Amino acid sequence: MSAEVLISPSILSADFARLGEEVRAIDQAGCDWVHVDVMDGHFVPNITIGPAVVAAIRPHTRKPLDVHLMIAPVDPYIEAFAKAGSDIITVHAEAGPHLDRSLQLIRSLGKKAGVSLTPHTHESIIQYVLDRLDLVLVMTVNPGFGGQAFIPAMADKIAAIRQMIGNRPIHLEVDGGVNPATAAVCAKAGADVLVAGNAVFQGGKYAENIKAIRTGANTIAV
Ligand code: DX5
Ligand code: ZN
Repeated sequence: MSAEVLISPSILSADFARLGEEVRAIDQAGCDWVHVDVMDGHFVPNITIGPAVVAAIRPHTRKPLDVHLMIAPVDPYIEAFAKAGSDIITVHAEAGPHLDRSLQLIRSLGKKAGVSLTPHTHESIIQYVLDRLDLVLVMTVNPGFGGQAFIPAMADKIAAIRQMIGNRPIHLEVDGGVNPATAAVCAKAGADVLVAGNAVFQGGKYAENIKAIRTGANTIAV
């Protein structure tokens, strides 16, 4: 992929006691989107934030809020996340029995609809919902925690989904273990949006870190 890659820093790695300030800082540091990881302690073994926190950070940036719901059930909460100011709402294919219905619900609320796949889930699960999608999120770690290592086998999945997307206007986002080195692997496989938590927030130099990931994505992976 030669097109410009978008960077969506995950605020899971931010200082939760200063979340508004942290969102303004990554905005000013040049991020494209703001990635919000929502975890329920049921679908994933961690608990993070809910719609009230999304609403609280909304006034701190005009950039798209890229909300990744790692919750089950998910349908009862989609409207609350839409009203809180999410721009993109992504649900897990594994989180409920009726993915097509969840995606229709997101779009009916005027939001962009995404589907996320955990590492073991085959890409064929999205074949018959492609026309309901604005984004596919490939998890390159098992969801639940920041700071885990990128799973190399996911490069083939990213490439397969890039093929499936064809010329549809669907973003292909990668989440988990992204750093300047793995960014190159993701971009080469066809990703156009990269989520990064630790690699953006570590050391406090957000602009430098974001730039390093962009540079990594423009490097040809060997
Ligand atoms: C994991 C989350 C990711 C994670 C990324 O469940 O969905 O967004 O926070 O963090 P890093 O980039 O540190 O792997
Ligand atoms: Zn995420």
